[in-house]
Amino acid sequence: MNLERLNTQAQQEISNVKSFQDLENWRVKYLGRKGELSLFFDSLKSLSFPLRKKQGQKGNQTRQFLLSLYQQKREDLEKNQPDFEFFDLTRPGEKIKKGYLHPLTLILREIVHSFEKIGFEVVEGPEIETEYYDFDALRMPENHPARDMWDTFWIKPKGKSRASKLLLRTQTSPMQIRYMEKHQPPFRIIVPGKCFRFEATDAQHEFQFHQVEGLMVAENISLANFKFIIREVIEDIFKHQVELRFRPSYFPFVTPGLEVDIRQKQDTRYKKQDTNEWLEIMGAGMVHPQLFKNVGYEANRWQGFAFGLGVERIAMIKYGLDDIRLFFGSDARFLEQF
Ligand code: DAH
Repeated sequence: MNLERLNTQAQQEISNVKSFQDLENWRVKYLGRKGELSLFFDSLKSLSFPLRKKQGQKGNQTRQFLLSLYQQKREDLEKNQPDFEFFDLTRPGEKIKKGYLHPLTLILREIVHSFEKIGFEVVEGPEIETEYYDFDALRMPENHPARDMWDTFWIKPKGKSRASKLLLRTQTSPMQIRYMEKHQPPFRIIVPGKCFRFEATDAQHEFQFHQVEGLMVAENISLANFKFIIREVIEDIFKHQVELRFRPSYFPFVTPGLEVDIRQKQDTRYKKQDTNEWLEIMGAGMVHPQLFKNVGYEANRWQGFAFGLGVERIAMIKYGLDDIRLFFGSDARFLEQF
């Protein structure tokens, strides 16, 4: 075949090439060891030297041309073929982004699970509360000085004034009242949930945080029951690596009231061990008899204990964190560690 024909024919044929297999056939046919171009070079052997040289150069140009056609076609196929036949085994893999559970989700699950194991039922309440449930029914009528302990986000009333003003719940304790209004003892419940306080934020304070409220009411309940149960749960969560301390305190809805502190035992692997200070994790106490009256329980028949556990506090101690703002900061570098 003369070179001109070879050029045009090869060009025509390659324009019909649709697959890598076609392309390989084309390459063998024109550029292969026994292909058209080889035959052409073979045919030069009988020519005189000057002619051979001239034709040889033309042959080389054709080879370059065919190679460029081949290269171009190959690139086109790689780009356009959806069922890409060429698989590069040496190409590094793409890292798949994995989702993570939020540290508060993890710790909440752990706390809830620990209580469920000893028979507590989980209930939930509204984040928008009425003044009645968040304060009045918990023995804090309007102007009661104890209300100052709970800086409050009030919700602007819309239109007509309501019977009870609305607010973002400052604590999960209002669920004590809501639950007792609808259920008779004996029972034991926990109420995990988000709370809000109108406060400036710093390393220890957030305007949003979580509590797990607890309430157990039955006959002959005493603080001894409370202490036993809380010890069980805290040791379960911290795998026996903390000490507990019960301290008298005041909350309007309990009498007596107390606070519970924990401290890392020596030689734990957690960060706080060098300072090893007591950290408050919950308020608690024996349910005030007035609350039972408020929900219409039979007088003097029931006793109960209640508590409110700070979830962020537990998470900070358990994970060795020193800034509560990390939880709501949405920094993936922080969140990915759990
Ligand atoms: N609600 C209280 C607070 O937010 C914590 C608390 C204290 C809850 C005593 C209780 C309790 O149930 O008995 O500070």
